Amino acid sequence: MEIITVKKIKKSFKKYTREQGLWNAIKSLFQREYKLVEAIRNISFSVEKGEILGYLGPNGAGKSTVIKILTGILYPDSGSIEIMGYVPFDDREKYVQNIGVVMGQKSTLSWSLPAIDSFYLTQAIYQISKKDFEKNLNELTELLEVKEISKTLVRNLSLGERMKCEFINCILHNPKIIFLDEPTIGLDVVAKEKIRNFIKKINKERGTTVILTTHDIDDVEALCHRIILIDKGIHVYEGSLESLKKKFVSYKDLTVEFEKKVKEIKLDNCEVLMHKEFKAKIRVNALKVNPTNVIKKLIDKYPIVDINVDDESVESIIKKIYLSKNDK
Ligand SMILES: Nc1ncnc2c1ncn2[C@@H]1O[C@H](COP(=O)(O)OP(=O)(O)OP(=O)(O)O)[C@@H](O)[C@H]1O
Ligand SMILES: [Mg+2]
Repeated sequence: MEIITVKKIKKSFKKYTREQGLWNAIKSLFQREYKLVEAIRNISFSVEKGEILGYLGPNGAGKSTVIKILTGILYPDSGSIEIMGYVPFDDREKYVQNIGVVMGQKSTLSWSLPAIDSFYLTQAIYQISKKDFEKNLNELTELLEVKEISKTLVRNLSLGERMKCEFINCILHNPKIIFLDEPTIGLDVVAKEKIRNFIKKINKERGTTVILTTHDIDDVEALCHRIILIDKGIHVYEGSLESLKKKFVSYKDLTVEFEKKVKEIKLDNCEVLMHKEFKAKIRVNALKVNPTNVIKKLIDKYPIVDINVDDESVESIIKKIYLSKNDK
C-alpha cells in the first residue's frame, strides 16, 4: 500500500549575499541582493507502507529540504504531496500525530531537563494514555538501555546517550512513519549498531515506515530495502541496493595466495594491484570480462591455494554515479 506520494515538487531558496565592508553593510539594509538556489528541481516518488527507504546524496543535494517538506516544516513552491491521506503543510496539526522526526543535528529534548521530563511532555502533547505511555516507555528504555540515563540532565549526556533518548521521544506516540535525518551522525560503532537494531525492530514489529538520510553506507546496507540517490536537487537513481550493485559494479578485486612462488602474473582485462611471490591482489574489469572466467583461468595457470573476492564498495559505486552525472 502506498503511504507517501510525491509528485513533481520544486523548492528554491533566496540566498542573500553582500560584498565585504561597512558601506556594503549599510547598503544591504535598504537593498538586499540575493541569488536563487534551486534546492529541489523536480522530484516525484512514492513509498510503500512498512518500507525502509534510504534517501542518499552528497552535501547540499537537497535531502534535508525534502525531509522538511515531507514533515510539513517547509512548503514546496509547486507540486503535490499526499501522506496517509494528509497534505503535510495544510493538515499539519492532524498529520504530525502520525509521524516522528529525528534530526541528528537538532534536538527535540530540553537541554536543562532530564530526558524523562521531555518524555512526559510528549505524552501530554500527543495525549497518550497513561497505560500506553508507560508500556511504551518501559519497552523502549529497556531496549536502548537508557532507563537510568533518562534521569540525567540532557546537557550532561554523551551524544550516543542523547540520540537514544531522541529516538524514544520520537517514537513514544507510536507514529506510522518516522523521518530520520542523519540519525547516526557522530556516533561510535557500538552506538550506531544499537540504533540500527532499534530501527530494524521498530520497523519489523510495528510495521513503521522509515525514511532515512545518512552518509553512512553501513546504515544503508544494514537497513534499507530501497534507496534513492539525489544530486543537485534531482533523483539520479532509484532502486534496491542489489540492483545498484548489479548495474553499476565495474570491478571485482581478487586476493589470491599461491602454493609456490609465482614470478609473473599475466591476465587479460585485469590489473595486478599487488604481487609478492606468494600473494597477489588482482583487479578484474567486470565490464569487459566475467570474473568467474578469470578465476577459472587463474586456477588453471597458477598454483592457487586460496582466493577471496571483494566487490567494488557501494560507496565507490555511488561516488561514480554522482561524478558521471556531473560530467554531463
Ligand atoms: N533555509 C535555506 N535558505 C537558503 N538556502 C538553503 C536553505 N536550506 C537549504 N538551502 C540550500 O539548499 C540546498 C540543499 O540543502 P539541504 O540542506 O537540503 O542539503 P542536504 O542534502 O541535506 O545536505 P547535507 O548532506 O549537507 O545535510 C543547499 O544548497 C543549501 O545551501
Ligand atoms: Mg542535510
